[in-house]
Amino acid sequence: MKFFVDTADVAEIRALAETGLLDGVTTNPSLIMKADRPMTEVIAEICDVVDGPVSAEVTATKADEMLAEGRKLAKIAPNVTVKVPLTWDGLKACRTLTGEGTMVNVTLCFSAVQALLAAKAGATFVSPFIGRLDDIGLDGMQLIREIRTVFDNYPDLSTQLLAASLRTSNHVRDCALAGADVATIPPATIHKLIEHPLTDKGLDAFLSDWKKTGQTIL
Ligand code: E4P
Repeated sequence: MKFFVDTADVAEIRALAETGLLDGVTTNPSLIMKADRPMTEVIAEICDVVDGPVSAEVTATKADEMLAEGRKLAKIAPNVTVKVPLTWDGLKACRTLTGEGTMVNVTLCFSAVQALLAAKAGATFVSPFIGRLDDIGLDGMQLIREIRTVFDNYPDLSTQLLAASLRTSNHVRDCALAGADVATIPPATIHKLIEHPLTDKGLDAFLSDWKKTGQTIL
């Protein structure tokens, strides 16, 4: 499973990229608002740091305007992935941008049939939002399993399942178990993935025993 980070915070992205474990980045208009910087500047900077797909979302609602925005964003760098909402206009824009060789991420997916539509429109990625379904008392992970089954039933569909709106380490584990192609994860949750008290306890014990040997490796 590929790991994308869900943020427009360039310092955070830079730090995570240094781990060598970061495969891409997703942003959205709310994350750009948080970054409080011009969108095109931020996306260009992120694309300099990360070689993998960097999602930049259009804000128009009509297909022709989405296309104009998408083409402008795609010009920033070859790894820009234009993000469009899961609406009929979004799917039309997706079809055209895909035909032009631009990667497209269809976002705000909340059902398996919506994911199927995105795949039929040629999306590179479709983003089902797990956390937001959980927030309203539904089972977000069930949607990931359903989309996985649908995509596996039709191997000619090449759209990647990009699990989004992840909030916890368990979400990430369950996405991997369900066979998501990509998980886009907020920075704070990525940092938590490595935590386990037995790792810390085990390391303390090893280091303390090692010290008692009086040896050095170098
Ligand atoms: C994905 O691309 C979205 O930016 C993101 O995962 C939404 O997450 P949220 O529901 O926590 O805002």
